[in-house]
Amino acid sequence: MNSVPQHIAIIMDGNGRWARAQGKPRSYGHLKGAENIRNIAIKANELGVKVLTLYAFSTENWKRPAEEVSYLMNLPKVFVDSYLEELMANDIRVEMIGRREGLPRETVRILDRAINRTKDNKAMTLVFAVNYGGRSEIVDGINEYVAQLKDSDHKITEEEFGRYLYTRDYPELELLIRTSLDYRISNFLLWQLSYAEMYFTETHWPEFSPEELESIIKDFMKRNRRFGGLQ
Ligand code: FPP
Repeated sequence: MNSVPQHIAIIMDGNGRWARAQGKPRSYGHLKGAENIRNIAIKANELGVKVLTLYAFSTENWKRPAEEVSYLMNLPKVFVDSYLEELMANDIRVEMIGRREGLPRETVRILDRAINRTKDNKAMTLVFAVNYGGRSEIVDGINEYVAQLKDSDHKITEEEFGRYLYTRDYPELELLIRTSLDYRISNFLLWQLSYAEMYFTETHWPEFSPEELESIIKDFMKRNRRFGGLQ
């Protein structure tokens, strides 16, 4: 039996499809999706998860219509205005991974407000992956490594390289959940997924419930993880 996963990542997919099924605009799905983060973060914390990383905006999402991009960029404000105090009350810390360059100044300001306000919280870290790409994370890590290499002929190890990634401060990723039943990784946490368990559910993100999270975690705990070895 495995313990509760220390680090869970979620690809929050299906906001648009969910909204369309209700006869509503895609933005409505994103709004409900942003609100749902509160329920899932509180439940994950209650269950003993230490890090919850959510894919909020990828480096490829800039290809969406400008109106949708602008709506998504405003969601951190909606989320922080509504739930910051509740995150404080639940001892949840907020952090972000991804490229800050390219994000609207206001989005960065709001995220920084949440990050600074919650920086001493200890129970769980809620990480927003914003303007995040798995490949750009690896390339950024390589560039940071090369910049301090100078004339050394040192060969980097996997463990050392992990310290050049955005997730350097977090425990090993153990479980990935993707809602809305597309079987893709979509450039999320490419390095960290090496030995994570994966779970794909047909539920669209706005309807993904705390109960479903709990049942996925229970399933994870029963999985036989061998890490390439034998039982
Ligand atoms: C995927 O659904 C979802 C996104 C691209 C955005 C996810 C973002 C949030 C839920 C809110 C972010 C909030 C904060 C606080 C950072 P989709 O639009 O691809 O859905 P579809 O596949 O059904 O079209």
